[in-house]
Amino acid sequence: MSKPTIFSGIQPSGRLHIGNYLGALTNFVALQNSGQYQCVFSLVDYHSISEDYSPQEKREMILDLAANFLAAGVDSEKSILFLQSQVPEHTELAWVFNCITPVSELERMTQYKDKAQKQSKNINMGLLDYPVLMAADILLYRATAVPVGLDQKQHLELTNVIARKFNRRFGNYFKEIQPLWTHFPKVMDLKRPDKKMSKSDPSGCLFLDDAPDVVLKKLKGAVTASAAGKKSPGEENLMLLLAHFGQAEEIAYFADAQKTGTLKFSELKETLARDISAYFAGFREKKQALLNRPEYLAEVLGQGAQQARKIAQTTFIEVKQKIGLL
Ligand code: TRP
Repeated sequence: MSKPTIFSGIQPSGRLHIGNYLGALTNFVALQNSGQYQCVFSLVDYHSISEDYSPQEKREMILDLAANFLAAGVDSEKSILFLQSQVPEHTELAWVFNCITPVSELERMTQYKDKAQKQSKNINMGLLDYPVLMAADILLYRATAVPVGLDQKQHLELTNVIARKFNRRFGNYFKEIQPLWTHFPKVMDLKRPDKKMSKSDPSGCLFLDDAPDVVLKKLKGAVTASAAGKKSPGEENLMLLLAHFGQAEEIAYFADAQKTGTLKFSELKETLARDISAYFAGFREKKQALLNRPEYLAEVLGQGAQQARKIAQTTFIEVKQKIGLL
């Protein structure tokens, strides 16, 4: 029996931060290395152009994201890693799905509403249609498991709605997909620890390729104040990072200091800066070496696209037969 297929995607739309790393990349690598799945990972560039962007920067963002995947341990020998726009069946299948997806389903997607509010001068069709393209991404590979964050729940439910509609109308073909929720707790913004860490606030955001002095500076600026009688969300956030990147003795030491009320934030921040920089030292080095070879990155993506296309073409021919075009 062949292994079940996993599909996930990340948009090439800027630098990745520690939250993306813990929430997505490390999880992808673990799934890949479990040996239990055929993993298909995509840089979903077509999704990313539905949001305001600069064409001059996009290619660089694509190569940067490819380097992030590889430096984090996604192995193009074990997994299929490819650029969405190099496999035209994604948009083709999305069109077929468009013709069975009620507009009303798309209009109630909360991410669509949020994005429409954020870029009110550019409420384009792609923004509304985003979840249909996402359904096509997944179902094109007949994937049955999709590792994503909880923010994608509604989109995955819609994928199953589309699969069921297709099956009912054209005969059983697509299987239900299972979300694989990534359970990592949210990493919060260092400056505003009531908000999720986000690249749109660079000063409170630890990027994966931040140099050690930058990591230290950002951590030193982390806000740890708390309202009277309340736990400090900034402190919780630093302790969460320590739990992940710190040594066992450090974790025990600071947990104890927390209990006895002797915790020194300067000490915690310096420890964390050292640990995080050390943790990502190998990653940064690998990533830089990859970025120095853009032609190699392009080749890896090209080979990934060839592998992806083989599967995608098979599915799409069968879809065309089912819907009466072939
Ligand atoms: N919408 C996803 C996100 O922003 C990215 C994505 C696109 C995706 N296509 C996908 C994730 C297919 C999982 C499966 O995180």
